Amino acid sequence: MINSRHYLSFDRMKDGTPVFVRAVRREDKYALLKAYEHMSDRSIYYRFMRPKWQMSLDEAARFTDVDFENHVAIAAGHYSDKGEEEALGIGRYIVLPGTKVKRAEFACAVVDSLQSHGVGFILFNHLVKIAREQGIEEFVAEVLPQNRGMIGVFRKSGLPTRTIMEDGLLRVNLDLRQRREVLEWD
Ligand SMILES: CC(C)(COP(=O)(O)OP(=O)(O)OC[C@H]1O[C@@H](n2cnc3c(N)ncnc32)[C@H](O)[C@@H]1OP(=O)(O)O)[C@@H](O)C(=O)NCCC(=O)NCCS
Repeated sequence: MINSRHYLSFDRMKDGTPVFVRAVRREDKYALLKAYEHMSDRSIYYRFMRPKWQMSLDEAARFTDVDFENHVAIAAGHYSDKGEEEALGIGRYIVLPGTKVKRAEFACAVVDSLQSHGVGFILFNHLVKIAREQGIEEFVAEVLPQNRGMIGVFRKSGLPTRTIMEDGLLRVNLDLRQRREVLEWD
């Protein structure tokens, strides 16, 4: 049984670079704020669908002080030569109330300099693993149609997907009940 609050796992980027994946902690709000400040306008827009704003420490705390029941958040990172953590990305799901099928909204973001290196796929796969254990049956996500990275992650997962276009956004439903092993690189 996975205890998402203490989740810790290891993985590799596409080029073989080792990556740790761990539960987000309260004190990560400082690293999140720093990472946010370095994110491009494009990545902010793709993630939050609004222009870049001045994120406050309180807002960063809301992204990192999570209950691991209705809101699960994990971080991917690697260690610098000095042994210090360097953040690569963060992913989360938030359980949606009141639906017959147990659904959660998924979102993630990877630092600009390391996008398309496999980190988004890693975050997605680890969250799928945790969510399944929690009985989540579907992930839903709102994605801009031009967001090829996010669409690519979903496609690569091989999970059955239903997508509709609404108000200029792709609303994607991913069925987690299909148990394909998605942790291997294809
Ligand atoms: C979207 C995002 C999370 C994807 O993560 P990533 O680490 O860049 O993506 P990955 O390297 O894991 O890519 C997985 C697959 O997606 C596809 N893909 C990734 N980047 C792509 C790009 N720029 N163009 C086309 N396809 C792309 C590829 O098929 C890739 O698999 P492959 O290279 O083995 O064929 C990341 O790009 C990001 O943070 N973007 C900004 C914020 C954002 O859009 N968040 C999502 C909002 S819901």
